[in-house]
Amino acid sequence: MPETTHVDYSTKIPNNVGLMDDQRVLKALEQWHPGYLDWWQTMGPEGFQTSEVYLRTAVSIDPKGWAKFDYVKMPDYRWGILLAPRHQERQVNFGAHKGEPAWQEVPGEYRAMLRRLIVIQGDTEPASVEQQRFLGKTAPSLYDMRNLFQVNVEEGRHLWAMVYLLQKYFGKDGREEADGLLQRRSGDADKPRMLGAFNEETPDWLSFFMFTFFTDRDGKMQLESLAQSGFDPLSRTCRFMLTEEAHHMFVGETGVGRAIEATCTAMKAAGIEDPNDIAAVRKLGVIDLPTMQKKANLHFSLSLDLFGSEVSTNAANYYNSGVKGRFQETRIDDDHLLTSASYPVSKLIDGQIRMVDEPALTAINMRLRDDYVTDCAKGVERWNKVIEKTGIGFRFKLPHVAFHRHIGEFQNVKASPDGRVLSDAEWTKAKDQWVPSKADGDFIQSLMAPCWERGKFASWIAPPKIGIDNKGGDFEYVKIHQA
Ligand SMILES: [Fe+2]
Ligand SMILES: [Fe+2]
Repeated sequence: MPETTHVDYSTKIPNNVGLMDDQRVLKALEQWHPGYLDWWQTMGPEGFQTSEVYLRTAVSIDPKGWAKFDYVKMPDYRWGILLAPRHQERQVNFGAHKGEPAWQEVPGEYRAMLRRLIVIQGDTEPASVEQQRFLGKTAPSLYDMRNLFQVNVEEGRHLWAMVYLLQKYFGKDGREEADGLLQRRSGDADKPRMLGAFNEETPDWLSFFMFTFFTDRDGKMQLESLAQSGFDPLSRTCRFMLTEEAHHMFVGETGVGRAIEATCTAMKAAGIEDPNDIAAVRKLGVIDLPTMQKKANLHFSLSLDLFGSEVSTNAANYYNSGVKGRFQETRIDDDHLLTSASYPVSKLIDGQIRMVDEPALTAINMRLRDDYVTDCAKGVERWNKVIEKTGIGFRFKLPHVAFHRHIGEFQNVKASPDGRVLSDAEWTKAKDQWVPSKADGDFIQSLMAPCWERGKFASWIAPPKIGIDNKGGDFEYVKIHQA
């Protein structure tokens, strides 16, 4: 039986895909492995490669209880290849091939398309590890440091997940792409990562939390739509990745939530009612709420760019071919062909932002982005609940989709967070109120002092309600031995 729910740890590469019986792929992956470890050592969390981190490792793919927690040195983490179970009856659920059995091999006509989707997804995984590699040094607690490293090792595993597909199903060019994934570098002028948001810096912990809230959530949406793929191995890989992704968004949402809580609590204690009295709030050693809103504006807009153009023939082709579906495709009540349906798209027409009906097939990106915005808005409401409890008069709000965009319909206009089209002069004058300024960045940086004592948390962030694996906030989540 080549595929099981339990993970085979007897080979160098833990897996549930029967690698032992697939010598060609096993060899290819074993050849890729040293380059990966080298990449991890040079581009992974800097200074903590010999620390022991309380990490979860997948020991099965059962959605309940796949994780085993223990102290692990990150370079010894068992990165493996884990696919969700195969359903024998699974079909292609949308597009021109709807109703055919799901493909176990790559259809020749869609080979280039599938390879491209897998490479783009794969490229984001190591990119975020590179972006976050210096953050350990300024961790606000051992708990947070552990969460950062958990996210990092799992992004490393997600790279493995995509590389497995490339090595197994795409032969020589798959091997070349797998090597390319280890060669590009986030933010590098000559060999950048493929997508904009993954070349930005993650300079501080608030950025990290915003990134895991907004950008990992884009990852979730992309994985959800790839999990619908007619190419079954891609679907199964993405389904297991999604179980890991949930933790990344938890880290982001609770991280920002705890920063909000620390700020509101400190304001209350100091008798500061006005959230816009930034100077007074900052003196308390916490991040003022308006600055957090600016950070959210920035990360939200960068993440919206990841959805690509609102109207896209590529997206239509992906859908029609059955390689990439919509969010929760099988739960949508329509014909799953979309040959005659339309979908409202926000567009720039004569300098005005308007909703226009477009063929639903070409509006696939817009629809996924709408689902994403809905998902983000729920998280933002949970942040607002944290503020409400303290009685401080402030609410976070997602900016308009036209705000601060670099891809798609609104890339050539300037718009305010409430969706007014602005002149360049108006934008330049006001932008420091809407995206973090250099001074905001410097202030946040001034709070980024390491807080590594067991059970201690930096002033700007509240302790978690409960710890990881039911441990307390004072558990020694990382035994630091600095390299
Ligand atoms: Fe990932
Ligand atoms: Fe992630």
